[in-house]
Amino acid sequence: MKFPDDLLWGSASADMQYEGGFGEGGRLPTTHDYITAGNHNTSRKLTYKMLNGNYGSASVRLGKDATFPEQAIPTLMPDEYYPSHQAVDFYHRYKEDIKLLADMGLNCMRFSICWSRVFPTGEEDTPNEEGIKFYENVVDECFKNGIQPLITICHDELPVALAEKYGGWLSRRTIDCYLKLCRVLFERLHKVKYWLTFNEVNLLTGYSRLGAKKDSLQNKYQCVHHIFLASSLAIKLGREIIPNAMFGAMFAMSPAYPETCNPEDIWAWVEQGRTNFFYSDVMIRGYYPSYQDFYFDENNICIDMEKDDAEIIGKYNLDYISFSCYRSTTASAGNKNYAESMLRNPYLEKTPWGWAIDPISLRFACTQAWDRYQVPVFIVENGLGFEDEPDENLYVQDDYRIKYLNDHFKEIKKAVEEDGVNILGYTMWGGIDLVSLSTGEMKKRYGWIYVDMDDMGNGTKNRIPKKSYYWMKDFLALKGGNLA
Ligand code: BG6
Repeated sequence: MKFPDDLLWGSASADMQYEGGFGEGGRLPTTHDYITAGNHNTSRKLTYKMLNGNYGSASVRLGKDATFPEQAIPTLMPDEYYPSHQAVDFYHRYKEDIKLLADMGLNCMRFSICWSRVFPTGEEDTPNEEGIKFYENVVDECFKNGIQPLITICHDELPVALAEKYGGWLSRRTIDCYLKLCRVLFERLHKVKYWLTFNEVNLLTGYSRLGAKKDSLQNKYQCVHHIFLASSLAIKLGREIIPNAMFGAMFAMSPAYPETCNPEDIWAWVEQGRTNFFYSDVMIRGYYPSYQDFYFDENNICIDMEKDDAEIIGKYNLDYISFSCYRSTTASAGNKNYAESMLRNPYLEKTPWGWAIDPISLRFACTQAWDRYQVPVFIVENGLGFEDEPDENLYVQDDYRIKYLNDHFKEIKKAVEEDGVNILGYTMWGGIDLVSLSTGEMKKRYGWIYVDMDDMGNGTKNRIPKKSYYWMKDFLALKGGNLA
């Protein structure tokens, strides 16, 4: 059971869940800094003040909406806990964290850039030196430890000033600001070979994390069009500045199965596939697919395109596809509720958070992507979110996580050896415990390394390797030889 030598194995994170350092080093707020903690039963809230002086909040689905109503000023409430502000403090602990990952034998680390740490309002002419220096230090530390950085340029959030002033991605002005950020990153972090322009692009219209205040379908797809352009223009720029780098974007892949063999369910599955693949079809093939034209007509959506847009999108496509894959879903003609679609598969166990555990879905996602696009595949998020129970020494015996990884890794092996998928690597989500995006909790933990912190941010934040850390270390040393 040996894996190829050149695969990258790593840990993945996003700044608003991992980095912290809010207000430090010149960093100004992002849209995500106004999202409170939630829990299993209570959704997170986006907080603001209306122009008439009243405070308000909007419920945030799965941690992903960051859209303020019109007439609202983003506002922090004194009695609320905002997890992104300290997250788990990578900002001050990056050296320790990178060493822990390297000691395990990992050779890759995915992290994202907090845009407003580098350009606090998004619109400055020159970058905030302390901000870009932080990321230079992180990258240097990675290379010192034999770790390839994999950088997500934009993981869902944007400087709140851009959301307020321009409605975020609704405006082409945000594309210019994003490209300014990209130029600084490519020039200053030019040793980095692997880049992701955006995170989970295919969820952008399902939620509202685009910064646009009027949240209509028309506006969402207009935002997405701007994101396609921004990604292509970033790739153009990236290829000029770092010609040997690889540029991808990330998509959420929760493979769907038809709920029954009723043709109506099969058709629902086809449609669900299109909804999901529309984004990667554009970003890899370089044009809007015909099925989308019909969808736009039916929904009275008309994308405002400028003269060169189609050419830009056609010319600068992704070098590889990357995705998150935690679970599978079912497609049913009678019930299109996404949250319920995961629960309806009677063959699969579910986590306490209702996520279906399905190792074969990872092989399925790899082969689907490879068969459809024939570009290299990078699995950049997978893992088990679970409530760990540490003993008195804060040691966690997470055999359930070991089993999850064991079973998923076996499927990756099959994808490589039996399906011929060209896989660049695998980064497990939250190798060092971090804040959950959907619930804002700490107790939904993914890591090989426990972080001593509770849902309200109390604790030493010390890092303690779990049993799975040692299992993973063996796995890496034996190149998969310990799989059961
Ligand atoms: C993906 C996101 O949707 O899933 C991550 O890219 C997120 O930011 C991850 O953390 C897992 O979701 P959750 O809600 O368990 O944190």
